[in-house]
Amino acid sequence: MEKVKLLIIGSGPGGYVAAIRAAQLGLNPVVIEKSELGGTCLNRGCIPTKALISAASAYKAIGQAKAFGITATAEFDWAKIVGHAQKTAERSAKGVEFLFKKNGIRRIEATAEFTGPHIVKAGDDEFEAEHIIIATGSIVRDLPSIQRDGKQVIGSDEALFLSERPESLAIIGGGVIGVEIAYVYNAFGTKVTIIEALDRIVPFEEPEISKELTKELKRSKIKVHSGVFVTGITKGEESVTLELGNGKTVEAEIVLSAVGRAPNLEPLALEKAGVELTKRGFVSVDDNFNTNIEGLYAIGDIIETPMLAHTAEHEGISLVERLAGLKPHKIDYTLNPSCIYTEPAIAHIGLSEAELTKEGVEYSVGTFPYMANGKAQASNHTKGFIKVLIEKESHKVRGVHMIGFGATDLISELIPAMALGATADDIVGAIHPHPTLSEITLEATLDALGRALHK
Ligand code: NAI
Repeated sequence: MEKVKLLIIGSGPGGYVAAIRAAQLGLNPVVIEKSELGGTCLNRGCIPTKALISAASAYKAIGQAKAFGITATAEFDWAKIVGHAQKTAERSAKGVEFLFKKNGIRRIEATAEFTGPHIVKAGDDEFEAEHIIIATGSIVRDLPSIQRDGKQVIGSDEALFLSERPESLAIIGGGVIGVEIAYVYNAFGTKVTIIEALDRIVPFEEPEISKELTKELKRSKIKVHSGVFVTGITKGEESVTLELGNGKTVEAEIVLSAVGRAPNLEPLALEKAGVELTKRGFVSVDDNFNTNIEGLYAIGDIIETPMLAHTAEHEGISLVERLAGLKPHKIDYTLNPSCIYTEPAIAHIGLSEAELTKEGVEYSVGTFPYMANGKAQASNHTKGFIKVLIEKESHKVRGVHMIGFGATDLISELIPAMALGATADDIVGAIHPHPTLSEITLEATLDALGRALHK
């Protein structure tokens, strides 16, 4: 048995970033990873999805160029589009491999399993570690009645790399994965239907954002059934039929199940380490990511914080900095940005109107449409709006919600601003370059102060 100071299980954005920071701080981490470095995000999630979305946007842009007086016809090669997504994922994973070498991080390619509170078996190796960070991420959650078979009923892992583009696709779940995949396949001509159990798609966004996205998806001829459950499934030779709770049926060549993800705890044998889980089956941790066992920590998708790559990264950094004796920033989960990479894109940071009301905060709302912004008009990206929520008395910015072109980048203006406690007056007092989409944020903030100039 080998004794080490810090063992990290899993190399997704939580684990690999924690490893790099730990190496920088002289903690000599050993990382156990059974598969490719980079986890779901780099290999089967965020990164290849963005490659497909970029291809879809490029293809759609050719059709939309007519508005500029440009006529062009476009053709696509699906195999090459998927090849680009695969290559992008491979390049990202190679990047992590390079960073591990550069930082002298030792990687064990094996499946980790606890044999005691501080003892982990990984293939032929066994380690005893003073500190162990569990960062094993999440897996696709299955509905009890809809089991994936990887061919006719698939999860996001398969949806990103289908060798042939289906003629029709039914997506169960109108959450982040559901709408991003819908956008991709619809762009290339697949007939897409989304079935969402709650009364609106992207139900965790502001209601008017869901409404705007629904409008755009419908305009693109994506069918949306909301407020309805799938009650049954019948598989045929060529297609699958879903029965819905409202008596309707949806037939498609392929069904994508995208109803959320679950913590990936198999086959860690956490019970052998004595680690406690929450009622929902996540690893139970305190504010410092300590489990109930001293020296054992958990970060990322396996704990009950948002299942987002950037959240996991911050949790890992904060944890290893504390282990190294530094005083890291406290993570403020209310300032955790969220992005959806459809077109129009969606992003938010801070609280929603419902959350502010629940907190008893008196607030003002400012909105501004893309349509009224010069840069948006010039580039023909006129769909969507930005909404800014500020405290009535103090003018402190408490929430920003966006739908429109570039929203996933525009949101970044607010991240340091809100982290520093910015008021609406601070935002509007800062010169925003003209003409840019950032002026939509500026105008929405002015509107919250009752001072919009171009509305
Ligand atoms: P999700 O939680 O975003 O959405 C699942 C959707 O399925 C919800 O709208 C839910 O109401 C619906 N649903 C649940 N049960 C259903 C049923 N029986 N029938 C119909 N609809 C049902 O989960 P998703 O999209 O699978 O994503 C998993 C995780 O990965 C999320 O936490 C998400 O934040 C993360 N992710 C983040 C991305 C990003 O930041 N851009 C991209 C992809 C995933």
